[in-house]
Amino acid sequence: MSHLTRRHLLLGGLGVAAVGSLSACGASSGPGAAPLPTPVRPSGTAAVVKTLTAKQSTVDLGGPRVRTWTYDDSLPGPLLRAKAGDFVQVTLKNQLPDDTTVHWHGIALNNAADGVPDMTQKPVKPGETYQYSFLVPDPGTYFFHPHVGLQLDRGLHAPLVVDDPNEPGGYDHEWIVVLDDWLDGTGTTPDATLAKLISDNATDSGNSGMGGMGGMNMGGMGGVGTPPFGDGGDIRYPHFLINGRVPTAPETFAAKAGQRVRIRFINAGSDTIFSVALGGHQMTVTHTDGYPVKPQAVGALYLAMGERYDVTVTLADGVFPLVAVPFGKNGTPARALIRTGSGAAPAAGVVPVELNGPILMGADLEPADQSLLPSRSADETIRVVLNGQMSPYAWGLNGASYPKNDPIMVSHGNRVRIRATNMTMMTHPLHLHGHTFAITESGLRKDTVILRPMETRTLEFQADNPGRWAVHCHNAYHAEAGMMGEMRYRT
Ligand code: C2O
Ligand code: CU
Repeated sequence: MSHLTRRHLLLGGLGVAAVGSLSACGASSGPGAAPLPTPVRPSGTAAVVKTLTAKQSTVDLGGPRVRTWTYDDSLPGPLLRAKAGDFVQVTLKNQLPDDTTVHWHGIALNNAADGVPDMTQKPVKPGETYQYSFLVPDPGTYFFHPHVGLQLDRGLHAPLVVDDPNEPGGYDHEWIVVLDDWLDGTGTTPDATLAKLISDNATDSGNSGMGGMGGMNMGGMGGVGTPPFGDGGDIRYPHFLINGRVPTAPETFAAKAGQRVRIRFINAGSDTIFSVALGGHQMTVTHTDGYPVKPQAVGALYLAMGERYDVTVTLADGVFPLVAVPFGKNGTPARALIRTGSGAAPAAGVVPVELNGPILMGADLEPADQSLLPSRSADETIRVVLNGQMSPYAWGLNGASYPKNDPIMVSHGNRVRIRATNMTMMTHPLHLHGHTFAITESGLRKDTVILRPMETRTLEFQADNPGRWAVHCHNAYHAEAGMMGEMRYRT
């Protein structure tokens, strides 16, 4: 089933009064009527030139072998690395049996390269090639993934690191740690899982559909109401991965005791918030979503889908598990190992004591001075309201499922304040394309921020990147089921 077909199925599904004028033939009158932006072509030679092939592959997760979709046959996909200010040119070859695009998550790039089908480009059809050309203005840890259907919940994601030529560095190693929740090729697919969620919850509005269907999360250890996030997502995953490996066959990072390491954490999962800790160590958080923060020592931290955190660690002597526990879900936590000395590795499933202590919520970090937006009062305020529920399985933004909701209009040059409200009983990581907003209260810069059940946050950004930008929940299932909107610059 194509993503469009599924959307059409869902149009009648947001069974709440807030849905305005839904009709089966309304798709042509939606935001798609606005013109797509014109792609930028590099005038000189690009600093980074890459070809990326999206294709079906068989991947070894470290025991389980799965048939899935990847970039260049690797999981995670190949690292894309550039320097701040570089012109990047990536040629995407689509060898998938479905349309696709690439979205460069967190990068404040030109709108035409943003990879949102029917908003910034036409989808790239099977067998087609498409060129992405963009400047990477800001250093940091990012990633890229398709913006079509549930392709993120297959193996289609890869890290993107933008180096800061002026940063002192001061560490001996740099490791990238990609967290993922995995079900593709284990007897189901993301598309089949969503179809089942929808059909199992089609008629019943009396309970939350907790009837024991495969692929659905039954609440596990953290049922509805478990702090701090409510429940643990919608989907039950057989595997949790770090860098594409199951915890019984972990990636092992080697270093020497006393060395300083920078770890770039990326949550590329689709429906799972993780808490991470390195056994026997404190970690110092230095950046989130690319931007520097006031260094903060923690034993453990949460990462929602789409969030990134950089930490530094000074390593002790021995073998240590780097563990990512899926919030509110059963299953063996994801892990990697760090080895600086001899000794046996702890067994899979061992959870470091650091995860029993306080766990940092990223939004509580303080911004570094150089990350602050210039102080200025808001010129306009926009509303982003997240709606929906499990049963019937339907999610929306500002009262309707995308693309039935109205574009949110902003003016170029304005300081825009966002009042974002989660009107649901689930936690949603809210992500805005093309901009890194500040949390008004603290000034902390983020492009993906957690909204807990019934929580309101005030965010703001400088409207300095004209175009049509997606704003959505980074739960892939929620976004696909309609929890997305378009923020459009007035012309
Ligand atoms: Cu990683 Cu539209 O998002
Ligand atoms: Cu969500």
